Amino acid sequence: MAPDNKETLSNLLQESRRFPPPPELAADANVKADAYDEAAADRLGFWERAADRLSWAQRWETTLDWSNPPFAKWFVGGKLNVAYNCVDRHVEAGRGDKVAYHWEGEPGDTREITYADLQREVSKAANALIELGVEKGDRVAIYMPMIPELPIAMLACARIGAVHSVVFGGFSADALRSRIHDGQAKLVITADGGYRRGNPNALKPTVDEAVADSPTVEKVLVVRRTGQDVALTDKDVWWHDLVDRQSDTHEARPHDAEDPLYILYTSGTTAKPKGILHTTGGYLTQVAYTHHAVFDLKPETDVYWCSADIGWVTGHSYIVYGPLANGATSVMYEGTPDTPHRGRWWEIIQKYKVSIFYTAPTAIRTFMKWGDDIPAKYDLSSLRILGSVGEPINPEAYVWYREHIGGDRCPVVDTWWQTETGGIMISPLPGVSEGKPGAAMRPLPGITADVVDDQGHSVPNGGGGFLVVRDPWPAMLRTIWGDDQRFIDTYWSRFEGMYFPGDGAKRDEDGDLWLLGRVDDVMLVSGHNISTTEVESALVSHPKVAEAAVVGATDPVTGQGIVAFTILRGGAEESEDIAKELRDHVARTLGPIAKPRQILVVPELPKTRSGKIMRRLLRDVAENRQLGDVTTLTDSSVMNLIAEKLPSAK
Ligand code: WT7
Repeated sequence: MAPDNKETLSNLLQESRRFPPPPELAADANVKADAYDEAAADRLGFWERAADRLSWAQRWETTLDWSNPPFAKWFVGGKLNVAYNCVDRHVEAGRGDKVAYHWEGEPGDTREITYADLQREVSKAANALIELGVEKGDRVAIYMPMIPELPIAMLACARIGAVHSVVFGGFSADALRSRIHDGQAKLVITADGGYRRGNPNALKPTVDEAVADSPTVEKVLVVRRTGQDVALTDKDVWWHDLVDRQSDTHEARPHDAEDPLYILYTSGTTAKPKGILHTTGGYLTQVAYTHHAVFDLKPETDVYWCSADIGWVTGHSYIVYGPLANGATSVMYEGTPDTPHRGRWWEIIQKYKVSIFYTAPTAIRTFMKWGDDIPAKYDLSSLRILGSVGEPINPEAYVWYREHIGGDRCPVVDTWWQTETGGIMISPLPGVSEGKPGAAMRPLPGITADVVDDQGHSVPNGGGGFLVVRDPWPAMLRTIWGDDQRFIDTYWSRFEGMYFPGDGAKRDEDGDLWLLGRVDDVMLVSGHNISTTEVESALVSHPKVAEAAVVGATDPVTGQGIVAFTILRGGAEESEDIAKELRDHVARTLGPIAKPRQILVVPELPKTRSGKIMRRLLRDVAENRQLGDVTTLTDSSVMNLIAEKLPSAK
């Protein structure tokens, strides 16, 4: 259903709080306002200069080949090695002693990995892959916890031109098997297990199950992390037996700018996951540039931490490739935010003096729920920039993040992008933009995003519609692995000549963009289009609400009725009147049309492992249907707790 121009409610646009950049940050920012003009005047020239921040073995001949849309080729004829750019060149420039990762294990063990260490470890791992018979172009599935061997394995693949396919360590054997099969992986790299919620969490049995009927897999390389018992099969090789005895030098050969770098699966709405394919030159150019621009990274002084898992694209682009290409010092943390206590993340920020922190709205709302007193116990004064990614950030969550984590001095950058876009596309620039809570603001320099109506025409300021990208960008997906037609159908068929990411958006009177979530999540109530994000934001703006998920349930009278699932903040009591209080609050904030038909107070919300609310399941509950597939849920028992709350649900 389309967010409609006139009918869409304007709640978010009434958000009037504004946060200008701190003057010192603005004066010294890596990227200033002129970058927009520079890129508008010569878009390809702008990306050439961004590519020049990397080290190329051979310069490209053509910046962009768009002769066969939608199949883009960037920096055609150019050659580079991604691992050399992320590791060796920093060592060669005399920065070998600089820390690349302050790694923190969940039980409290730590490792400091300098760029020189990384060069030796990646070289050894690359030599080991070669000994196992892995060749350029072969696919390597990686199923690992958040330990240093994970980025090392990815960089070793990149170094020799093998294509990695990282599968998030929380996925099931079925999910792993289908990804191994789709990519026809020759090797799997894994670990005995990792630490989660205070306990060793085994990974190897899942790999055994998936590999048992995966004939393409020749070997399984196993890191010992937890020391738990492992049943070895004849395909298994211990990392410490094979990698440790390799030479710690390896000459990185250049690869073509359009050689594949990795496949990463995104589930989408249909059953079969899509293998998103990224290549080397354009991808590295955009992730390095955006990391430099959006986080204003000063590699000599900043300590950067992105709390995502490397199993998601956020971790690929902003824990591994972007930060390393820029020579950053990063924190990498293995475990969960509440182990052994709910202040763990703030303790880490205090300990390593983190200055740039990047996380997701779902995490921020969880911390709001846990209470303001927890972060207040820690010294967070090292922070200077905060980032958000993954879903629209509600204005209340933005303001809480800014105040309680950022000490009311750090700009919040709300970064919109996707697995498919490879890098950040729409975001404030911390030294330029006047922050608006809930707005992702403008396309970055060099990106031409727009909001269009049903017919593909640009909407005026004040209008709403579909987000599109008009021109190819360097880090864009090149195709869906093995399925060019699906690539065309999924992204390039809704609007002629434009990329359609599937998100709704509004453009405010200043021309700034507000993302409204997936267009499938727009409700039609009595002829009005209402986005779930807007009603959720209205609910979260009530002092007693920590989190809310809203769905449209079929309603004989109104078409769809709004059903809201809410989690109350720590301290707030569930009472009979709360539902009425919240319904009235939404009516006051958004208008009576958006008043939820039903409000349910629940203990948890169903989320995917990447933290996205599974509204599909809530719709099943609200419409009193049998639940659909729950296999990608973090915790499927949540659905029983929710169903108990709904009087009519079975
Ligand atoms: C979808 C992509 C990009 C890394 C993590 C998610 C939503 C992402 C924002 C944001 C509003 C956002 C979109 C997008 N999304 N960031 N800042 N504001 N929505 O990657 O799993 O590929 O999901 O996440 O709906 O299409 P992903």
